[in-house]
Amino acid sequence: MWLQAHVGFWTLALVLFVISLFLRGTALKVFHMILRLMYVLIIITGLYLLFHVFSLYGIWVIIKMICGLGVIVTMEMLLVRRKKQASTGVIWVLLIIFLALVFYIGYGKLG
Ligand code: HEM
Repeated sequence: MWLQAHVGFWTLALVLFVISLFLRGTALKVFHMILRLMYVLIIITGLYLLFHVFSLYGIWVIIKMICGLGVIVTMEMLLVRRKKQASTGVIWVLLIIFLALVFYIGYGKLG
């Protein structure tokens, strides 16, 4: 149940993030707010899973957590920097690396 919730929350977060890239003004604010709520829910379900599967997978779960947090931090930085019209090139590269790692570890090493 917690794993389904975790997957559901990060799927929703990725969808909200992509839609936010096309929004401005109030709509962007609302989507960004819901996205931040998703971050919290992803972290809560992720931590719950972490404590339950740590003995099974050991260090891979910790690396998975760090990459998952990396995805969240880079998505947040991208939206904030876009609002300020600051450069985002390097952060996009980091987001893609963290996403690739999270899926490789999540589906290749765990679960
Ligand atoms: C947007 C960020 C994140 C994404 C895209 C993501 C993605 C994934 C994926 C693909 C899986 C494997 C699902 C499966 O086996 O069906 C997974 C599992 C897991 N995630 Fe995340 N995750 C994210 C954030 C986090 C965070 C922040 C934490 C820790 C605080 C975390 C902890 C875990 C744990 C412990 C598992 C293993 C569950 C198991 O195999 O039983 N994740 N996640």
